[in-house]
Amino acid sequence: MADLRNVLSIPALYTYFQRIVRGSCDFVYVTKHVRPQPEDRILDIGCGSGDILRHMPRVDYIGFDLSARLIRRARRVYGDRGQFYCKDLNDESSRELGEFDIVLATGVLHHLDDGEALRLFELSRSVLRPSGRLVTLDGCYTETQSRLTRRILSMDRGRFVRTEAEYRGLALQGFEHVQSTVYDKLLRIPSSIVILECRDEKPGK
Ligand SMILES: C[S@@+](CC[C@H](N)C(=O)[O-])C[C@H]1O[C@@H](n2cnc3c(N)ncnc32)[C@H](O)[C@@H]1O
Repeated sequence: MADLRNVLSIPALYTYFQRIVRGSCDFVYVTKHVRPQPEDRILDIGCGSGDILRHMPRVDYIGFDLSARLIRRARRVYGDRGQFYCKDLNDESSRELGEFDIVLATGVLHHLDDGEALRLFELSRSVLRPSGRLVTLDGCYTETQSRLTRRILSMDRGRFVRTEAEYRGLALQGFEHVQSTVYDKLLRIPSSIVILECRDEKPGK
């Protein structure tokens, strides 16, 4: 496992590994849950190599990530489709990126402890337009999943894989409305995935 992790620290290999494992996951995620419209302003927190752009129409996209290597790859491959910054979500300057129609945190919450997750919700809320949504996707524990699925989830590099109820409970501390959907067969490996769509009820909507 340690060897595989070393190999996956190479951005190009990590990206191709993700594509193989994810199968149609990103397509379902984007078309059914993100639902981007052309010209939407989208902020992608923990954007990795920016691969989500493969499934997006022309949007006004900004992504940031802690990993300088992934951001370098994102700029090289998708530099004409968006702007990429190497930064931590705790960096206060993220609040100065403007207003957004959609904020994404794809595969990020399970890397964050509760305090960091609440900061992510708070940052998202502060930059979303009144009609905007935060959309997240993470592996989750469920009552009915197989032992193999549970075992695979427990080996994730993210140390904070939660149940659907736990993710929802955190999100509801930041947003008034949280819709969650759990999928059991979205990846090409045994998995349970929860997607959250978070928004606030704004007057006149
Ligand atoms: C599982 S990867 C997902 C990457 C990408 N969103 C995707 O779907 O392929 C999680 C990403 O979150 C980033 N990340 C974790 N903690 C972060 C933080 N505090 N600020 C910014 N990015 C963070 C990691 O560097 C990593 O690239």
